[in-house]
Amino acid sequence: MSKRIIVTGGAGFIGSNFIFHMLKKYPSYRIICLDKLTYAGNLSTLEPVMNNPNFRFVKLDICDRKGVYALFEEEHPDIVVNFAAESHVDRSIENPEVFLQTNILGTQVMMDACRKYGIKRYHQVSTDEVYGDLPLDRPDLFFTEKTPIHTSSPYSASKASADLLVLAYHRTFGLPVTISRCSNNYGPYHFPEKLIPLMIASCLNDKPLPVYGKGENVRDWLYVEDHCKAIDLIIHNGREGEIYNVGGHNEMRNIDIVKLICKELGKPESLITYVTDRKGHDMRYAIDPTKIHTELGWLPETKFEDGIKKTIKWYLDNREWWEAIISGEYQNYYKRMYIKRDK
Ligand code: NAD
Ligand code: TYD
Repeated sequence: MSKRIIVTGGAGFIGSNFIFHMLKKYPSYRIICLDKLTYAGNLSTLEPVMNNPNFRFVKLDICDRKGVYALFEEEHPDIVVNFAAESHVDRSIENPEVFLQTNILGTQVMMDACRKYGIKRYHQVSTDEVYGDLPLDRPDLFFTEKTPIHTSSPYSASKASADLLVLAYHRTFGLPVTISRCSNNYGPYHFPEKLIPLMIASCLNDKPLPVYGKGENVRDWLYVEDHCKAIDLIIHNGREGEIYNVGGHNEMRNIDIVKLICKELGKPESLITYVTDRKGHDMRYAIDPTKIHTELGWLPETKFEDGIKKTIKWYLDNREWWEAIISGEYQNYYKRMYIKRDK
């Protein structure tokens, strides 16, 4: 059966990959992308689907209650998938306020719209960072859905607050919600201020590769397409009111990733520069994805060795995409395209 889905934050990294996945897999679905186009939003990413009659892009802030309600009245969505967020930990340390606004209050506006207009599912895209971190000397420990919330950064605190609000809307108002908490994603269209794309772009430009602290921090890397497939399963088959952890059992130390990127690109490790550590830097994230595997049959399909090669190739083949970001030119794309396209 055909569905109408509002995807917020769809001009960002994971949201755009999700839109591509959904339009390809469900040609009869209508996908409406709602995105404010902050520095992290890049409309040119969505160029391949702009002319698809089942796709619409709307430039809108999720905190704009009037605008969001008007969009719901017009589009009558069945499902909302909320990716929109300020997502960069380092920026949250510099300026927490916008994180609280978008990540918490924006979530509230989206859920109020869902209540007012009645939807079948509100899905919140959350993060494993709500669980805080694990020690390096306890490789036996993993985050499960029952791990207590214990946040470290303003970013993770804002995401955890949003999760609590989502669960409260379920309990108090009966809103049909689900939450996914995913580990670090990598793949195409990843904004080049995050570890993997930053290191690839810097390597290709023979620039220093800034590794925080000793580079021993561990992240559990998941190929973005596998995350999109997990969300697809959750919105169709996941149980209301439930949280699903999504992770790849693929732990890597930052320094090993940076060295691997140097090797793949034939660049010297002498580019690596150790810099002052991030404040409150989480040591290790590691997800136990048993619940989504047993309930929904999800498993990550892309091995890190393959995923990182595909990702590096994508950045080599799509140099103009990330070079336009580094030069700032991508922010003019909207001005050139929007008036013509938002119909
Ligand atoms: P991103 O920063 O690449 O994209 C965020 C998008 O949201 C951008 O297009 C931006 O313009 C939009 N946006 C920001 N504020 C907005 C607002 N007020 N109104 C409307 N749109 C707004 O982020 P991402 O890496 O694609 O992450 C997407 C979601 O997944 C986030 O909620 C993030 O917390 C979560 N997540 C990300 C990762 C990861 O590894 N990237 C891991 C786990 C969870
Ligand atoms: P990041 O991509 O910002 O994701 P997150 O903080 O959400 O996990 O960072 C991934 C890891 O890489 C994290 O431990 C911080 C580290 N890092 C660096 O060492 N250097 C960098 O320039 C960046 C951006 C991150």
